[in-house]
Amino acid sequence: MGTVMEAPMSNQDKAPAGVLALFDDVDSLLDACRRMRDAGYTRWEAHAPFPVHGLDKAAGIKPTVLPWIVLVCGLTGTGCAMLMQWWMNAHDYKYLISGKPFFSVPANVPVAFEMTILFASFAAFFGMLALNRFPRWSNPLFRMPEFRRVTADRFAIVVDPADPKFHAGAAFLGEIGAKQVLPVPADPSPAKFPVWVHMVGSLVTMAALIPVALIIRAHYVTSPNPPIHVVPDMDFQWKDKAQTSNPTFADGRAMRKAVAGTVSVDADVDPNLLSYQSGKSTMVDATGTTYRTDFPLPVTKELLALGEMKFGVYCAPCHGGSGYGDGPVHQRAMALETAGWIPPVNFHAETSLALSTGRLYDSIVNGVRGNMQSYASQLPTAEERWAVVAFIRALQRSQNASTSDLPQGMQPKEIK
Ligand code: HEC
Repeated sequence: MGTVMEAPMSNQDKAPAGVLALFDDVDSLLDACRRMRDAGYTRWEAHAPFPVHGLDKAAGIKPTVLPWIVLVCGLTGTGCAMLMQWWMNAHDYKYLISGKPFFSVPANVPVAFEMTILFASFAAFFGMLALNRFPRWSNPLFRMPEFRRVTADRFAIVVDPADPKFHAGAAFLGEIGAKQVLPVPADPSPAKFPVWVHMVGSLVTMAALIPVALIIRAHYVTSPNPPIHVVPDMDFQWKDKAQTSNPTFADGRAMRKAVAGTVSVDADVDPNLLSYQSGKSTMVDATGTTYRTDFPLPVTKELLALGEMKFGVYCAPCHGGSGYGDGPVHQRAMALETAGWIPPVNFHAETSLALSTGRLYDSIVNGVRGNMQSYASQLPTAEERWAVVAFIRALQRSQNASTSDLPQGMQPKEIK
């Protein structure tokens, strides 16, 4: 049986922080633990310098709830990840990528996996701290020199004053084989932080708010000083800004004037050029539509050259270089015996020769009966479209020319 000693401490007016019982060997510790458990003690702990098999069972320690907390938090992480990805990809900002579904489980696995691990490990880490009531600033046991031997060659049981049977603890511990039973002196450190800690803490907290306050202020206050670029990002670019100078140019201006002859896409266009239904002369075709029959531009060599070029690029693939409706696209479609192929119009057919200039222009702008698409975006200006119309007319003349079309003086003399 051990001896109960008085604690050699000054703060005896405070209630002791527990009772410490020391044992010489592991078997007496295990035996004492069993008897503590059976006697109904609940708030106590056993300490040993090495892990002791069976100690948990002897001390009656129940399995911790931590795994369940980790499981619930992990599943919460999975759910959050799924919800977040559904919200972002399938609800708030749908973005079609290669025709994939907005929401599909396999695509969401990596993020869900990561968030599960994240939530679970946070739960394990902080849950362990919370269940152990950590962080704890000091432990009165560490002030006892006797307790230090628990890291070397002593075994100990410490009973918490919160245990309902605490008052009988000291005597009982002696009975169950403790070699030494000591009251754990109360923690002499003050229960409250010293005032200066509060002061310094408050000052540091307030100082930490200053940068935040400055950043918020900068959002609302204008200043003549250039901004501070913490993350320069694309703030500084290798380009000239408006109203700056650039020595590359003779006049030193960074802003350049438009190249001579530039036509703005939204510049005013002569409405006469855009119209294909009204002009100096008109006709009504078989469908009852009125078309102009005149040509609104002076026909120059340049205009015809432009028309030839555009026709070669955009029309010849179907209508053929000479306009016989035998372009390579048509020939290929014939070779493949494409079902339902509608042949491009032969511009030298009787019906085509009868088409008005306005109808030709209309075909370019609006397409033809849904069988030929519009070429308005390929030929965006009225001038280009009329140039193509002029060139089609030239093509038609070239295939149906008479000697009277030759310039004066080059016409053959009549043979008698
Ligand atoms: C992809 C082939 C294709 C290209 C390229 C094409 N066309 Fe056509 N075009 C057709 C087809 C097919 C028809 C016959 C449509 C129909 O009969 O309904 C047609 C018919 C026409 C007609 C006859 C309109 C009418 O009232 O009968 C004109 C004029 C015409 N195209 C002008 C052009 C011009 C000008 C271009 C170039 C800017 C062009 N096409 C480029 C396929 C094409």
